[in-house]
Amino acid sequence: MFPTINFTTTSAYKYLADHFIDINETNLKSLFAEDDERFKKFSILFEDILVDFSKNRINDTTLALLIQLARECKLDEAIKAMFNGDKINQTEGRPVLHIALRNQSNKAILVDGKDVMPDVNAVLAKMQKFSNAIIFEEWKGYTGKAITDIVNIGIGGSDLGPVMVTEALKAYKTRLNMHFVSNIDGTHLAETLKSVNPETTLFLVASKTFTTQETMTNAHSAREWFLNSGAKTEDIAKHFAALSTNAKDVAAFGIDTENMFEFWDWVGGRYSLWSAIGLSISLGIGFDNFKQLLAGAHASDQHFENTSFEQNIPVILGLLGVWYINFFNAETHAILPYDQYLHRFAAYFQQGDMESNGKHVDRNGNAVDYETGPVIWGEPGTNGQHAFYQLIHQGTRLIPCDFIAPAQSLNPLGDHHNILLSNFFAQTEALMNGKSEEEVIKELKNSGKSESQIKELAPFKVFDGNRPTNSILLKKVTPYSLGSLIALYEHKIFVQGVIWNIFSFDQWGVELGKQLAQKIQPELKDNQPVSTHDSSTNGLINLYKDWR
Ligand code: F6P
Repeated sequence: MFPTINFTTTSAYKYLADHFIDINETNLKSLFAEDDERFKKFSILFEDILVDFSKNRINDTTLALLIQLARECKLDEAIKAMFNGDKINQTEGRPVLHIALRNQSNKAILVDGKDVMPDVNAVLAKMQKFSNAIIFEEWKGYTGKAITDIVNIGIGGSDLGPVMVTEALKAYKTRLNMHFVSNIDGTHLAETLKSVNPETTLFLVASKTFTTQETMTNAHSAREWFLNSGAKTEDIAKHFAALSTNAKDVAAFGIDTENMFEFWDWVGGRYSLWSAIGLSISLGIGFDNFKQLLAGAHASDQHFENTSFEQNIPVILGLLGVWYINFFNAETHAILPYDQYLHRFAAYFQQGDMESNGKHVDRNGNAVDYETGPVIWGEPGTNGQHAFYQLIHQGTRLIPCDFIAPAQSLNPLGDHHNILLSNFFAQTEALMNGKSEEEVIKELKNSGKSESQIKELAPFKVFDGNRPTNSILLKKVTPYSLGSLIALYEHKIFVQGVIWNIFSFDQWGVELGKQLAQKIQPELKDNQPVSTHDSSTNGLINLYKDWR
């Protein structure tokens, strides 16, 4: 079964704690100066993705000890357990099998003795047929017109993945206009509906549980809008489809179960873009491209399952994260794609990582006495450079960053891509090297500053450097390479969850707020003041009632 080892009790952890003292004194610049082979040694080429982790505060010993840590935590057994379909999501009693959704080898994967692959393939075939019918205009709306607009209604994992991928692969788009509505704020739906025509719009109600309040409220309002436009109840079948595990509630909503695309409880919401939840992706970029996305992810799955830890990208990235979080006390991790198409990549992995590893109870049910998942954040470069990079370069916090860029632009335009990539290269170099006092003084002298001006200005212009980064260079953003990249990050999260001895696949922490909102909702129906909460919550509710 799944290992339950406290990583702080391993010998590797103790060696790492000692070793940290040395590395903490060592400068990245000197590590490069000492070793000509550093880039070669600390980078991995996987198909068309190069992961350069040489600009990290590690040496051969660090890497060997981190790998020893993974071994002592029985990461190999944990990987096997996931790929075997063991119920590693213990608190919900489920296996974790997003890898089955992209299992291009079609090798049987058993859940309770039953191979899940025939069902996975059947849903994929249904998605293919449906996507083609819509894209190639065989499927008509209730007035006989072809569908032009798709509105995906979902939230969290039923929204972020489809949005991120559809945006990332916009260059491969079909003729359909894609819209995504997630927020319960009526503005989101209202603004979207302003730009679509009920006769030519298809709504996808995307919800694993089909009970999520935001999604169901938005879906009901969309249905009302559709019916108010003159359509009849029987026309719903042409304009609404459901992506869900809950056939009963889909039927109760009035969606023909013929138009329901099924998935299973062993697919976590934040790992579900590969499932029927990806129907909007398949419509947005075409089914063949969706298949390529799955194929790329499958390649990463095989890499993760079969590659030695020393050459295993998710293992290395995961362990580096542990190194910074648990030894350097890093609190956050930035994801910085130098590609405008990837502008939702960091937002997607905010859920992927923070909902997975934002846990403080270990797999034995005890509160942990070490840090777990970091705050994930980021924006595309170069925009971020003009916004928050100042803090990464000269702030007081250590922020490990992943820089991601494609070598080939999907929109070659003059010198734009060379300029973009020169910034990509320059930033990691600057973060590593910083700028010494001598360099600053020389620069100021050359610009004609006086001795006293130099003395005054120099301290502010010095950069310590020594700030760690990973550089991930893709040949090109394609459905295949994107699939691979996402899956590498997913498995990185898994690796960290194993080391931290936490359950990465439940999300009990999001429940309390939902429960309390359900309690407050009826209290907002009238204008009577409330007094059942603390004074702050009462005060806020009562002012809202006054002002609305
Ligand atoms: O916010 C909690 C959560 O359960 C996420 O894990 C999930 O992705 C999201 O809500 C949406 O859930 P559903 O797909 O069931 O509507």
